Amino acid sequence: MAVKHGGNLQEISEIYQIEKQDLIDFSANINPLGIPERIKQAINQGLEGLIHYPDSRYRLLKQAIADFHQLTPECVYASNGAAEAIFMLGRVLKVKKLLLLAPTFMEYEAAFQQQATEFCYFDLETRNFQWRVSEFISFAIAEEATGICLCNPNNPTGQMLNQTELDELLTFCQDRGLVLIVDEAFADFSGKEDSLIPKVTKYANLFVLRSLTKMFAIPGLRLGYLLTSNVEILDQIEQVTVPWHINTFADLAGQQALKEQSFIEESQHYIEKERSFLIGELARFSDNIIVYPSQTNFLFFRYLGEDCLQEKLIYKGILIRNCTSFKGLSQNYYRIAVKKRNQNQALVNALEEVLCGK
Ligand SMILES: Cc1ncc(COP(=O)(O)O)c(C=O)c1O
Repeated sequence: MAVKHGGNLQEISEIYQIEKQDLIDFSANINPLGIPERIKQAINQGLEGLIHYPDSRYRLLKQAIADFHQLTPECVYASNGAAEAIFMLGRVLKVKKLLLLAPTFMEYEAAFQQQATEFCYFDLETRNFQWRVSEFISFAIAEEATGICLCNPNNPTGQMLNQTELDELLTFCQDRGLVLIVDEAFADFSGKEDSLIPKVTKYANLFVLRSLTKMFAIPGLRLGYLLTSNVEILDQIEQVTVPWHINTFADLAGQQALKEQSFIEESQHYIEKERSFLIGELARFSDNIIVYPSQTNFLFFRYLGEDCLQEKLIYKGILIRNCTSFKGLSQNYYRIAVKKRNQNQALVNALEEVLCGK
């Protein structure tokens, strides 16, 4: 059953007539450590403030984001989830031909369809999900792309370009006048510093997206941001933004989130440990599944069977992401979030029952 996004518990529970609380959700990539206590407190305190409008310019939030990345607030567009920033870029940025990975997060295409943008796709499956940036650049030249939107780490494959590769890509884009959008929504789980954010002030054609949804387990709150030194584009975005697009709770939670360095580090260690656990356990099913290397909080794998593994696991109380709806995949692929040990173990047990008949 192909749904557009992971985390769609309501829809799945209706289709399969299973109570939501009876499903462990591996289909959305949310930090298993949950919402940090101080963010919950900030949200609770926000209740009193609801009788006022939020600051329409979000000065404290922008300052907190800017401080976190050692930038100035003029480079920050705070958004209602990273999704809003993606759609704002799609609305104001003129890109004749946009190069995307295939598969990748689907909303880039949806966002840029608002204009007459053409798309070209760098196919990952035919490269067995291993590729070099030089190849990607040659493809961009051959396709005469005028913009690139890179998801780094890529959703759903979990792979990430390193700093040298990112720099090479940025230099290429600058030399040839291409727009470069990099979505770093999952970068903070990698435990690596590799990022194009420090280059934002130097290159006006660079747009970097971040999300607070995943790391701070707040998908229901909606908070993300865009970083760029392109003031012209930022002005255009501000002009079409709905006033008070970020609510008071998200405003306060965001200010607190960016002070949670030790929580971020704890989460990175936790994810690394549990990802290794899962990779080790999934290796037992190598006759049935091929797991690809990941540098973030989810794993992407190919199922060699013909049937629907997602459906079989739903009946065992486990919801995984069926990747059928992603462009560019011809086989049976799935994505699973890295969760808590007991949940990861439950997934492994369910797979054992389904794949080995135990
Ligand atoms: C790669 C990527 N970017 C952005 C988003 C949107 O994030 P947000 O919840 O902050 O809007 C998602 C959501 O799944 C995503 O996978």
